[in-house]
Amino acid sequence: MRFAVVGAGVVGRLRAEAVRGLSGAHLVVVADVDPGRAEEAAGGAAVVGDPRAAWERDDVDAVVVSTPAPLHEAHVVAALEAGKHVLCEKPLGTDPGACRRMVAAATRADRLLATGFNYRYFPSVRVLRELLREERLGALDHFRAFGGHDGLGNLHAEWMVRSELSGGGAMMDIGLHVTDLVRHLAGEIVSVQGVVSERIWREPGSEDNAVAVLRTDSGRPVIYQATWNEWRGYGFHVDAYGVRGMARAAYAPMFNEWIEQERPGETRSRFRRRYPWIAVREKLFGWQTTTRQTFAEELRDLARRLDGEDVPLATGEDGLRAVEVARALYRADSTGNAVTLTPFVVATASGARTPDRGEIE
Ligand SMILES: NC(=O)c1ccc[n+]([C@@H]2O[C@H](COP(=O)([O-])OP(=O)(O)OC[C@H]3O[C@@H](n4cnc5c(N)ncnc54)[C@H](O)[C@@H]3O)[C@@H](O)[C@H]2O)c1
Repeated sequence: MRFAVVGAGVVGRLRAEAVRGLSGAHLVVVADVDPGRAEEAAGGAAVVGDPRAAWERDDVDAVVVSTPAPLHEAHVVAALEAGKHVLCEKPLGTDPGACRRMVAAATRADRLLATGFNYRYFPSVRVLRELLREERLGALDHFRAFGGHDGLGNLHAEWMVRSELSGGGAMMDIGLHVTDLVRHLAGEIVSVQGVVSERIWREPGSEDNAVAVLRTDSGRPVIYQATWNEWRGYGFHVDAYGVRGMARAAYAPMFNEWIEQERPGETRSRFRRRYPWIAVREKLFGWQTTTRQTFAEELRDLARRLDGEDVPLATGEDGLRAVEVARALYRADSTGNAVTLTPFVVATASGARTPDRGEIE
């Protein structure tokens, strides 16, 4: 596939490097309003300042959108209308309405819209998904999901902090990845109850702590937290608990641990999987190496999905649902009531529609 990368900041640069390192992929052009950044990311590919000059090229099949979130809708819709497949960084849009318009544009154009939920590709997450697929924990009871970092020092652009530009705080930031992992591992989220607060950083509308109880379509509870006050630094984990044990996927550092027992209360076997090569690689070359690896796997799956394969790539609908869950929590916090999300129907070019979920705007 022939790619354009639009937005060559911290993430766009890694996206461009992932394309360049992937066999079967070709980086045609990088667009950024800052020519120096585009040049650095391009590694010999063409460089343009106006993104239109990237997605209007005939020799581009797919566009990776890694511009600031408030620009995603305009960039994604225009690239889809130019006939390109699109992978857009999270958040897909800054509110559910924007996300819905993007999903609708993909349907109209009959192009693939993917959301950059690269956490699905972390090795520890893959292992947990496999344990769940093999039903190693027996009948499942509940999940626990956490994602956090130590806040504003990690957010290098103004739009990332101001809720009128970003759509929210911790839950719209690292929280979207965690929400997506819950859906990926535990099932669809159908109701949301909880509390958000902004006592630490005091950015209006940008919660620094989001605490929720989510319910999945199988009725299982998920204890959920997204935070900008994890003073120990960046990290996430997702835990699954069942009759026959528990399992955790975590990063950073990357590890799994799981416990198995024949029956509740019987002798337990404990397992721990570490990823020493990842620890060494990150020590030598930085966390970017792990992110770049997941980006490459996502891009490979974009091509596979177009070939009809069943792959873990997150779609536009997945991007929409994660933003809806964040909005639902904001609503639950302000009303004190649980918010119900309607069952999810995937939009297809052949006519099935997402139902009107106007209640979460
Ligand atoms: N997947 C992840 O784990 C992850 C991590 C961090 C950020 N993100 C997401 O990636 C996206 C980009 O974040 P970032 O940290 O790279 O931001 P950034 O500010 O470092 O980069 C954004 C780039 O877009 C360029 N840009 C701005 N307006 C433009 C325009 N009109 N046309 C072309 N280029 C334009 C800027 O010059 C800049 O180089 C955001 O959506 C963010 O939420 C994802």
